[in-house]
Amino acid sequence: MITLKSQHEIELMRRAGKITAAARALAGEMVRPGVTTQEIDNAVYQFIHKQGAVPSFLHYNGYPASVCVSVNDEIIHGIPGRRVLQEGDIVSVDVGAYIGGFHGDCAATFACGKISPEAQDLIDVTRQSFFEGIRYAKEGHRLQDISAAIQNYVESHGYSIVREYVGHGVGTQMHEAPEIPNYGTSGRGPRLLRGMTLAIEPMVNAGSAAIKQMPDGWTVRTLDGKWAAHYENTILITDGEPEILTAPAI
Ligand code: MF3
Ligand code: CO
Repeated sequence: MITLKSQHEIELMRRAGKITAAARALAGEMVRPGVTTQEIDNAVYQFIHKQGAVPSFLHYNGYPASVCVSVNDEIIHGIPGRRVLQEGDIVSVDVGAYIGGFHGDCAATFACGKISPEAQDLIDVTRQSFFEGIRYAKEGHRLQDISAAIQNYVESHGYSIVREYVGHGVGTQMHEAPEIPNYGTSGRGPRLLRGMTLAIEPMVNAGSAAIKQMPDGWTVRTLDGKWAAHYENTILITDGEPEILTAPAI
């Protein structure tokens, strides 16, 4: 069942979304050569708590940290640790915050110092694919209109869509119905209705779509070792433009 949020629930989602977006921004500012991924996790944990919220990911299915930090050929769910970020790395940060009974969820890939033009293009196409998708995120369209727009944009740039992981509804639970694949056929899937809150999150590989799971039980990498990027926001469906609940403050 896809829940529709009331006006009051939307207010609470806005508050969760603002904190989540600010946590992503903080993590992004920390991405520079010499910083460890653990330092980013520590700072985000402190920040989320200072806002009176709780990190959504911490202990979720046993996940041990407040953020996922995935570097270069790591696509998602990288566990923060002693890894030191290097000039030229691309660093995907995914974060969630829970407050007032509701979750926010967002992610982005950041450049560590100066990166290659190829890496920058991967980041730019991944981010833009989100915005291409949400052109269809309004009442009257169907879910896979979003999916198909993301897929078309990504594949027309020569990149691949990860299939095994998808976007999702978000609300009192971090993962609610519906699943939102980043590939599909326009005109299919449930009708979009105002009050739906959705996490749209393209995961894009520079090479093939194939993935491999790491022995830590979390980290997901590209099979071919080429790099990957991720971009995610929590959005609200309305009868007009979608509202991005995890929009950057500036
Ligand atoms: N934002 C991710 C998702 O939508 C991350 C959750 S993974 C976690 O699924 F287990 F670390 F929480
Ligand atoms: Co998500």
